[in-house]
Amino acid sequence: MFKEVTYGMVGGDLKALIGECHRKALGLDPRAKLVCGCFSAIDELNDECAEAYHVDKSRVYYNAEDMAKAEAGKIDFVSICTPNFVHYSAAKTFLEHGINVVCEKPLTLTVEEAEDLARIAKEKKLVFAVDYCYSGYVMCKVMKQMIARGDIGQIIAVNANYIENSFLSLLAEKEQVNGRIWRTDPKYSGISNTCADDGTHVEHLVHYVTGLKIKRLLATTDTFGKKLDLNDNIILEYENGVHGAYWFTQVACGCPNEIDLRIMGTEGCLEWHQTRPDEVVYIKKGEAPRTLCRAGDGIDVPAGKLARVPFGHPEGYYIAIANIYRSVIDTILKLKNGETPTEEDLDFPDVETGVNGVKFFHAVVESAQNNSKWVEIN
Ligand SMILES: NC(=O)c1ccc[n+]([C@@H]2O[C@H](COP(=O)([O-])OP(=O)(O)OC[C@H]3O[C@@H](n4cnc5c(N)ncnc54)[C@H](O)[C@@H]3O)[C@@H](O)[C@H]2O)c1
Repeated sequence: MFKEVTYGMVGGDLKALIGECHRKALGLDPRAKLVCGCFSAIDELNDECAEAYHVDKSRVYYNAEDMAKAEAGKIDFVSICTPNFVHYSAAKTFLEHGINVVCEKPLTLTVEEAEDLARIAKEKKLVFAVDYCYSGYVMCKVMKQMIARGDIGQIIAVNANYIENSFLSLLAEKEQVNGRIWRTDPKYSGISNTCADDGTHVEHLVHYVTGLKIKRLLATTDTFGKKLDLNDNIILEYENGVHGAYWFTQVACGCPNEIDLRIMGTEGCLEWHQTRPDEVVYIKKGEAPRTLCRAGDGIDVPAGKLARVPFGHPEGYYIAIANIYRSVIDTILKLKNGETPTEEDLDFPDVETGVNGVKFFHAVVESAQNNSKWVEIN
């Protein structure tokens, strides 16, 4: 009976942002051990990482292809934490060598690449997760189950934002020189910056919480003279005719990573903010607003039991990612042991959600570049 998993990482050197979050989240799971990696495209950095992360030097690689070839059959999954342009080639090579993948978002630069990964993962029957980490928050799972149970009746409107300030200083720069340059350069980031980076999180989170599927959308994007979008406004129509509005910006003075979700229904509404992730405001029609708190009283859907620390002690971003990984690891272990994963085990964003994200930002850019015409998503 298998009880533990080993994993490798691509990207995530000592200075990288998200790789460290993945390692910390996985560090919360005693079943997972980092055993190999290609942490940087720069050889010396790679060697430094091996030492810092206690990875044997013989299992440090200088490209993803060599790593996949050498580690086939030896690791249970790989975490891909590189800039967007590397996702497709890296994920493809690991899948082709029979290795399960957890990949950062946006999944790929093009829809064709994303669909190709989905096809290979399906053909090879491999687990493929995409790190839409906000759906790992317990209170997002609570909202999902409350909505599915009918607590707010039928959904009639959605409003969601992702607003932050990481590129405000870019507006004053003549050249696109910036420590985070790859994000605003189409060569590395693809056709979209803000929508691909932050907008896909919202697109996924709304779908995860409400079950709504986007039918069509219209958008404006602002580049402020730079190469890619920095501020996006979107009107959406879901398949059931309900409308929604999203705003994504990376030039919002003073704003941290604020994600705001408001779901309006015929019998009530729910409101969540990532700056207070342990709380959901629930308003039942005709009653005063109530704040539901993670691990507090008044939550009677099963997801309420997923809280790891008691009421009042914040859980946060690392645990949201750890919750995604917990489900991924549960699924991988069940499959290795010849068991069937449960719905709860499979509660992680899969490769199809990654494909949807890529279709979404392509539709947003297409609309914005064509006088904000309606663009269908299929
Ligand atoms: N889920 C989230 O909340 C979240 C948050 C931040 C970033 N991201 C995503 O994570 C990815 C990485 O973002 P980041 O902010 O950590 O970027 P970063 O620039 O801080 O780090 C990128 C890492 O990839 C390495 N790298 C670059 N090219 C490589 C290659 N060919 N082979 C191996 N390693 C290579 C770099 O050396 C570095 O370690 C992006 O796709 C981004 O959209 C997701």
